[in-house]
This record gives sequence, structure tokens and C-alpha cells, in this order.
Amino acid sequence: ASLADADAPAADRHRVPDRHAAVPPSAPGAFTNTPDTDPAVPEHRAWVRDVLARVPGSDLGVAGIDAARVHDAAALDALVRDTRRAGERWGERTATERAEVLDRAAAALEARRGDLLEVMASEAGKTVDQGDPEVSEAVDFAHWYAELARGLDHVDGAAFVPAALTLVTPPWNFPVAIPAGSTLAALAAGSAVLLKPAGPAERCGAVLADALWEAGVPRDVLRLVQVDEGTLGRDLVAHPGVDRVILTGAYETAELFRSFRPDLPLLAETSGKNAIVVTPSADLDLAVRDVVASAFGHAGQKCSAASLVVLVGSVATSRRFRSQLLDAVSSLVVGPAHDARTQMAPLIEPASGKLLTGLTDLGPGEEWALAPRRLDDAGRLWTPGVVTGVRRGSRTHRTEYFGPVLGVMTAATLDEAIDLVNDVDYGLTSGLHSLDTDEIARWLDRVEAGNLYVNRGTTGAIVRRQPFGGWKRSGVGPGTKAGGPSYLAGLGSWTSAPATA
Ligand code: ALA
Repeated sequence: ASLADADAPAADRHRVPDRHAAVPPSAPGAFTNTPDTDPAVPEHRAWVRDVLARVPGSDLGVAGIDAARVHDAAALDALVRDTRRAGERWGERTATERAEVLDRAAAALEARRGDLLEVMASEAGKTVDQGDPEVSEAVDFAHWYAELARGLDHVDGAAFVPAALTLVTPPWNFPVAIPAGSTLAALAAGSAVLLKPAGPAERCGAVLADALWEAGVPRDVLRLVQVDEGTLGRDLVAHPGVDRVILTGAYETAELFRSFRPDLPLLAETSGKNAIVVTPSADLDLAVRDVVASAFGHAGQKCSAASLVVLVGSVATSRRFRSQLLDAVSSLVVGPAHDARTQMAPLIEPASGKLLTGLTDLGPGEEWALAPRRLDDAGRLWTPGVVTGVRRGSRTHRTEYFGPVLGVMTAATLDEAIDLVNDVDYGLTSGLHSLDTDEIARWLDRVEAGNLYVNRGTTGAIVRRQPFGGWKRSGVGPGTKAGGPSYLAGLGSWTSAPATA
């Protein structure tokens, strides 16, 4: 069902319809994930229709949101010093007090769901079906890190010492969930935050920060920063007053950050080149659905996207999977993010560099089963592409394109497929479609990636259930996973002295 419904009764545009009514109460002590907007509920569809109607011409996040724009080194220094001081005071509050602010943040984010969907569609090309789970994830992060914070006050024989200042540099592809998760974790752990949204998603960062301030996060404890690119960006990362950097972005950016400051305490979630393996025992209908959603959701602009599918044995040689896959991909509706029918919206930035190569030039022996077509002058709107004949070691096998291109590889056996999957520099997500328990066990044992998904797509990790983070060049830092049980513990230091607060 479409998420917007022209025939549904008009909704109150400022009231987010209740999502919890249909959810059974959780067992005592259980963690409940926040439900998404539900296309089966007429009130939800009407509400989405009204949100989408506001997207063209939206100016949310532009006016009235207080961002520190840093133009020179003196301003940068003052900002770091002031925010550190505020962080020291914030860190003196008990973790339980901070958790109460996070609980209010969860409610504020839910209340701003419509604004967040509007700004994500308008600025970042997020369709509602892609943006709505991001808001739910942000709410989940607030609840989950509040719960973890409460635990920090009660560790026998050890005291948690918060970092005073964390710099958060999120990506543009999840412009709400990722900055929300990193910021809320640092705040829960007692640190002040300088949040520097990605250039193409500054308005999303502004609406997010506004929601957190509204919830009671002090304005000097969370500062939204816009810094002129170039040496000031480097100076901010390298500033000795910054205790920790949480980066989500390209592996090359993590390398660059380290070159700015070799001893930088960096927690990074970086690139991926993820595959889904399909064996002859799989439910092929399910596999097609999950491959298409994982490869082309948000036009493939996800670190978790599956940009390769590896067909094993008879799946590789029969025509059935291939023709179902191509039919499904060529049926994807490409259009503007604010149209409820759209399944693939424009890229956030015009295709260039590696992505343009992926969309236009094939490697030796490869051929387009579906050639991408550019639909606009700017180079942002493309039809999805499927490449067959991808060989081990080729560009399509190894390069992260971060766009709507899926490479198809074949393997005689599951072991050969696992070798292909592992033969890349990254290890973020990996998928297997198989109904054979021996195959599943072998794949789980051998595949090198942080998040392993069986008979499911590779994107959309659920907070608390599927802690998220990678191996190899997909993760840089102490290796704790976002949304998992130990994430906060890695955001400060520990002493053996009992807490005095
Ligand atoms: N956490 C995001 C996902 O799982 C990146 O898709």
C-alpha cells in the first residue's frame, strides 16, 4: 500500500498520529522499538499526504535555528573551549538525570516526525518509506541510550568518567538517524557535543538539534556547527580540546582525520561493499524482494546497501532468478521524493567520480542487463542499473559506488561465494538467502562482516536487536557497535575508584 492516501479523511497537520495503539505492551524489562507509520491505518496515510504536500518549497531548518558558523581560528577555539566547559558541567550530572533528558528527547523526536520527514524529503531525497524508519530509529536510540546511561551509575567497583567534548560528524545519507544516534550516545555518556552535519544535509541536522534543545538538552551542551570547509575543518578535528570524534562516512575520511591528528580517539563507521548470497535452497521470491530493497533503497546510497548479489549453483544457471530480479528492478518507480509513488528518488548530489564510473563504464567482460539511464540534466535522477558478468577483482566487485548499481556474480559452490564476498577491503553487512541450516552455519562461520543477515535484506539495522558496526575497512576504532549494549561504555573512560557523584 502507498503511504499517502488521497481518499483518506483530512488529518490535523500538526498532530502525529499515535503509533502505539496497536502495539501490545512489552514484557516487564523488555525494550520496545518504536513502530513506523503504518500504511494500513487511514489516519496515518492522510497525515503522510499532508507532510508530502509541504515538501516542495519547504524551508524548515533554514530560519531561526541557532548554528555556530565558524569562519576563523579564534572563533573555533572559543567554541571548543566554551563547549568543553559546558560538557564538564553536563558530565557532573548523574547519568540518571541525563537519561531523563534523553527520554524527553525521544518524545520530542516523535513529535517532530512530520518535520523530520519533510526536511529529509526536501533536502536529502528521502522518500517517506525510507525516512520514516529513520525517525523511529532516532527515537529508539534516545530510549536505548537512556537505558544504558542509567546503567552507568550502577557499575560495582568502577566509575565511568565522561569525555568533556565529542565532535560528531555524520553522513548525508541517514541525515537524522545517524547524527541522532551519535549525538544522543555522547550526551548520555556525559559529554557535550559539537554536531557538524554533512554539507548536503545541514537543514536535517538543524531540525534534529532543535528537537533536542526543545527536549531540554542545554544549548551550550549541544552546539550545531557549520564550519567553512578546508583548513578550519581540519583544525576542528585536530583541536586538542576535542576528546573524541564519532565519524560515520567514507573510509578515506577516517584516514584523513587520522592524518590530521594521529592520536585522535576516533570511533568510525565507514564504507562497505556488501553482498547477498543466494543458494539453490533459498526462497527465491523472498530473495528477489530483499536484494532489490537492499540494492536500490534510497538509490543505493547506504553504507549497508547490497551492491552485489552472488548466485550459487543452479540459481546462477537457471533463468528464473535472473528474470524475476530484472523484472522487479525495472518496475521500480523513479521520481521526486515527495511523490508517494516514488521508490527511487534523485541522488543527493549529481553522480560524479567513482559513482559516475559505476553508472556509465563497465569493466572487462561485464555487461548491462539493465543499463542506467540519466533522466535529468543535473545527473541526479537515474534509473537503476544491473551489471552481469562481474568477475573477481574487477571494479564492480571491489569499489563502493554508493548509488543505484547492482553487480551480479556467480559461484559454483557456497564456499566459492563466501570467498568472493570476503575478497573485498570492507566488511560491514552481509546477507544470505538459504533455507538449509548447514549452509547457514557454514556462512555464519566464514563470512567477514559486522552485521550478518539471514533471509533478510542488509539494510535497516534495528536498535538494540541488531547492533551496527563493521570489520576491516568498514569500522575504525574500539569496535563497539551503535545501538548495542556496550556503545556508551566506549565513549568515556573508567577508573577503579567508586563514583563520588
Ligand atoms: N544502520 C543503517 C542500516 O542498517 C546504516 O542500514
